[in-house]
Amino acid sequence: KEEKLPYKVKDISLAKWGRQEIELAEAEMPGLMALREEYKDEQPLKGARIAGCLHMTIQTAVLIETLIELGADVTWSSCNIYSTQDHAAAAMAEAGVPVYAWKGMSEEEFNWAIEQTLFFPDGQPLNMILDDGGDLTNMVLDEYPELVEGINGISEETTTGVLRLVERERKGTLSLPAINVNDSVTKSKFDNKYGCRESAADAIRRATDVMMAGKVAVVGGYGDVGKGTAASLRGAGARVIVTEIDPICALQAAMDGFEVKKMDDAAEEGDIFVTATGNKDIIKDRHFKKMKDKAIVGNIGHFDNEIDVAWLKKNAEEENIKPQVDLFTMKDSGKQIVLLSQGRLMNLGNATGHPSFVMSNSFTNQTLAQIALWNRPEEFEPGVHVLPKSLDEKVARLHLSKIGVELDTLTEDQAEYIGVPITGPYKSDQYRY
Ligand code: NAI
Repeated sequence: KEEKLPYKVKDISLAKWGRQEIELAEAEMPGLMALREEYKDEQPLKGARIAGCLHMTIQTAVLIETLIELGADVTWSSCNIYSTQDHAAAAMAEAGVPVYAWKGMSEEEFNWAIEQTLFFPDGQPLNMILDDGGDLTNMVLDEYPELVEGINGISEETTTGVLRLVERERKGTLSLPAINVNDSVTKSKFDNKYGCRESAADAIRRATDVMMAGKVAVVGGYGDVGKGTAASLRGAGARVIVTEIDPICALQAAMDGFEVKKMDDAAEEGDIFVTATGNKDIIKDRHFKKMKDKAIVGNIGHFDNEIDVAWLKKNAEEENIKPQVDLFTMKDSGKQIVLLSQGRLMNLGNATGHPSFVMSNSFTNQTLAQIALWNRPEEFEPGVHVLPKSLDEKVARLHLSKIGVELDTLTEDQAEYIGVPITGPYKSDQYRY
């Protein structure tokens, strides 16, 4: 049998740069740093062997080191072939983390990398899953069912991964408890929205340097990610058109001041297209045919099936301009389309994902989910769960002082009047924020 690699990264000599950026990120991630302080004596993750599959970025490095400081052993892979920041991966490898991730891996290498994380250096298998999008979860449940018995649970980061878990639950194939981190308010209403508000325009700029002001941008989907993406492009001065299938989200987009059209019509008008639906087949052959010459097309949803890249590859000549930017020249018309990250999520492929501060909210939820599943497994039946609102409010609270937010406090009289405890939770579980 081949000797297992202790790690596989692009270039270990990038570790020093990675460490410098990790230290800067720590100052922007008060939630994670507060958990390190709170739990350093208690070591609530002692004994946990967490296999993580989540974009191997600088922010994720701060998450990994938080899990380790709380007592866990950790192995890591990235949940997208383009999302790894090689200096972050190098810093983790140098710190002794078995990490298998580099930017620009093939799909075969992607699956290989996830597989490496299932067993720890001492030969023991994982006993916790931390996932983003469900690829690790599906590999374990479908291909390594013998490992399931030893696993306490799953924490899942994103909308698409939660969708896959819920589907498994419905089909009766979800044999483990899973915490849906995405639907903590301090995750989806912050990372998906305010995160994309920073990183969507960033991706277009770093990829193309195109002037966005005055251009027409089309955003497919007006959920949390679509809202952030539309705001991002508007902030850059673009005139934004939204497409939707849900009347509520379409009405929201209209009342936020965006034009809402069918993709079939928007296709002719757009200079820049970003899909944000988590659904498939949003931009297809007939849309490409209607687009302007040199339209820029990217996706910010989890998987690369929002844009029919296979059609482009068949019907256009492909030329690489720079990493994650490709020019497609249509064989029949000679018209050109600029495709970002081969249709994979552009904010992590073309830029560096969301800023640390917003990811601290997401990852504080991740850490709390791991603590809950590892310490109190008896509380979680197989199926999909969310963290209690008290923890959601705690995550928010941990991020206030960094940005100078001061809260008022309810008086006893006021608390009684609106029927909530002075210390929270302040809203019912149905409240939508
Ligand atoms: P969401 O469910 O809040 O929003 C998706 C929206 O797309 C919904 O409003 C839905 O009605 C709409 N939609 C569905 N089919 C459509 C169609 N054919 N045409 C137009 N609109 C359509 O989901 P959320 O949280 O916004 O996530 C979207 C995707 O982004 C998911 O794949 C998620 O995993 C991913 N994601 C990506 C992030 C990133 O940094 N790139 C961050 C967080 C999530």
